[in-house]
Amino acid sequence: MRTRRAATALTAALALTLTLAACGQSSAGGSNEKKDSTGGTIGIAMPTKSSERWIADGNNMVAEFKKLGYKTDLQYGEDDVDQQVSQIENMITKGVDVLVVAAIDGRALSDVLRQAGEQGIKVISYDRLILGSPDIDYYASFDNEKVGELQAGYIVDKLGLKTGAKGPFTIELFAGSPDDNNTRYFFQGAWKTLKPYIDSKQLVVRSKQTALDQVTTLRWDGGTAQRRMDDLLTSAYSTEDVDAVLSPYDGISIGILSALKSDGYGTAAKPYPVVTGQDAEVASVKSIIAGQQTQTVYKDTRALAKQAVQMADAVLHDKKPEVNDVKTYNNEKKVVPSFLLNPVSVDKSNYQSVLVDSGYIKASDLK
Ligand code: GAL
Repeated sequence: MRTRRAATALTAALALTLTLAACGQSSAGGSNEKKDSTGGTIGIAMPTKSSERWIADGNNMVAEFKKLGYKTDLQYGEDDVDQQVSQIENMITKGVDVLVVAAIDGRALSDVLRQAGEQGIKVISYDRLILGSPDIDYYASFDNEKVGELQAGYIVDKLGLKTGAKGPFTIELFAGSPDDNNTRYFFQGAWKTLKPYIDSKQLVVRSKQTALDQVTTLRWDGGTAQRRMDDLLTSAYSTEDVDAVLSPYDGISIGILSALKSDGYGTAAKPYPVVTGQDAEVASVKSIIAGQQTQTVYKDTRALAKQAVQMADAVLHDKKPEVNDVKTYNNEKKVVPSFLLNPVSVDKSNYQSVLVDSGYIKASDLK
């Protein structure tokens, strides 16, 4: 099935073995071993260890691939685009059979993935869609627009906007990293949910920053979000409090909450605004329990890892992976067949049943 690539991989493996032999090193774990004892080697390129979800994604995939007899090469790019590109290059050189990639910059991988394509290595875009490259075979993710709808819908419900509660309420908007394709899906979902209330002036964005390019947060960085929130509080909230903050991700929410705390929020007289999030990270769930962050969106990374593994295993057996969406995710070169999982809104009222009872987070980690 993978003849051309297998031949190239074999050449690469041979070269590697010879090089390693010349250096007196062993090639344990290298691709030249994979065909004897296992179903192959999977290269897994993850963006960063700075967020616990990617650590879980990586570990879950390694465990699932191992169960099926595959070897894995798991690498983290530490939010450095060049580092991720060279990690993927190395995987290709070592002759991996499939690549699973969560991109740091969705547009930076076309060249390296062309090499993968030329060698017949199938590529699965993991959680974040890789843009501008024809060398993507499948996409495993969540319904990303729904994530934004859940965040904004939570704000709408919490403030009682549908029932015409008092108001107007003030709100500020944050979005994710501009180089991550998910950012615009999250924001689109949130924006379409909030817009009617902004139009009717039930919601007021005092900073007037409502365009996506005004509210993004490079590399999803909490410190960057904290600085922006500090600035917003100084420039637009000296006479009035902020009632809600749309945050797309827990790390950003924690930064926003630090700025709010420094500005005196978190008292009976000046309560925290509604602050959303995403990923159900332990620090944020603790913050929700403590009455600081209000909501997060849970995405079961165990299920996502299983989907990606299912896709890789299928392509390696010349079977069609299971997909449930063949129209939404156009990466500008093609519509990438996708499997999209369902995100779930979590707050103080359901974290126990959704996160703890399902085993996603240990109760002891929340102490
Ligand atoms: C996105 C992902 C989110 C969050 C964010 C920051 O691509 O979909 O769940 O993890 O990156 O890491």
